[in-house]
Amino acid sequence: MDRINTFSARQTAALGLARPAVAHLQPFEPELADLPLEKMKAELGQDRVIKLSFNENPYGPSPRAVEAMQRELTQLHLYQDSKGDDLRRAIAADLEVEPEQVILTNGADELIFLTAFAFLEPGDEVIIPTPTFGQYRASSLAMGARPVPVALTDFRIDVETILQAVSSCTKIVFLCNPNNPTGSFISQEELDYLSRRLPENIVLAIDEAYIDYVTDPSCALGLRSLAHRENLLIIRTFSKIHGLAAARVGFGISHVPLIEALQRARLPFNVNRIGQAGALASWQDKAYTDTMRELNTANREYLYTLLESAGMSYIPSQTNFVLADVKQDAAAVFRQLAEAGIIVRSGAGYGLYRHLRITVGRKEDLTRLGEVLRRC
Ligand SMILES: Cc1ncc(COP(=O)(O)O)c(C=O)c1O
Repeated sequence: MDRINTFSARQTAALGLARPAVAHLQPFEPELADLPLEKMKAELGQDRVIKLSFNENPYGPSPRAVEAMQRELTQLHLYQDSKGDDLRRAIAADLEVEPEQVILTNGADELIFLTAFAFLEPGDEVIIPTPTFGQYRASSLAMGARPVPVALTDFRIDVETILQAVSSCTKIVFLCNPNNPTGSFISQEELDYLSRRLPENIVLAIDEAYIDYVTDPSCALGLRSLAHRENLLIIRTFSKIHGLAAARVGFGISHVPLIEALQRARLPFNVNRIGQAGALASWQDKAYTDTMRELNTANREYLYTLLESAGMSYIPSQTNFVLADVKQDAAAVFRQLAEAGIIVRSGAGYGLYRHLRITVGRKEDLTRLGEVLRRC
């Protein structure tokens, strides 16, 4: 309420008209680490800034995706296919599901929001292993639902604590696998255990934004559990390994009834023409994503060695970021890195005051990071 009271009378009146759940949301206020690269440079007064705060692909999109997107530029006066059938068919064929089991969304973010919009009513509970990606909580709050955080155990999601948190009000469980910001994952046995024991009327939403980077075969795949559970939703994105973050394309996979519910909830033209074309070309360019995975694995190993030689430790990661324990106040290390033109993600937002989440960048950028870390 304090925040509302500090607004001018006119704003307060408008906020008063908003649904209470919305009026009480905190607007997204970008910090330094949230700024686009150009703004970061201006803010820091530096020509060269290394951005390791957003888990973006440092190598950019596939050249084939770039060509496909360029071809669409002259067609922007025409509305695109509202369901994105070419891309849905391509995804469905490779993942061995039906196209009707796939929904395209404006990034994974929109799919998280649509899941909340489609399924939550005020008073419902949403179980969220924490710390994790913030949009599960924000989207639940926007619907007037109650986020129920459950703590990780040793930086890993613990399926038993999720089951213990289930109540008659639970409507959704959001599971980020591998988890952001820890980079850790749950095994197939753990996912199957959870999926079989969770009451059927709860939506199990598995966010696999980073799944394409995984090389450990014991990591769970939502697709392998789909046959056992009707209300299971897999959330994926083209923002990470495909390097198409600004094209805003995500997708969901589930059984047809759940996808139908989400299709009713979405806006008709949620994924733009350029994004659809880029995502389709990138999906078909398997050699590119394979190369990105290999580069990421090698660079991640390199980052581990740099952290070790700076006397720091880390949580082993299956993603394109690493949660580093800097063994001191992470805010001070963050500042030293920022002065050197390197922006990482502070752990403070996740309640981790000795940790920094560092995106696996290009090797030369990591070398620079290592030099600064050794001086911290
Ligand atoms: C776990 C997780 N889910 C979803 C997203 C959002 O992805 P998108 O760009 O597709 O909206 C992110 C972005 O960083 C993420 O870390």
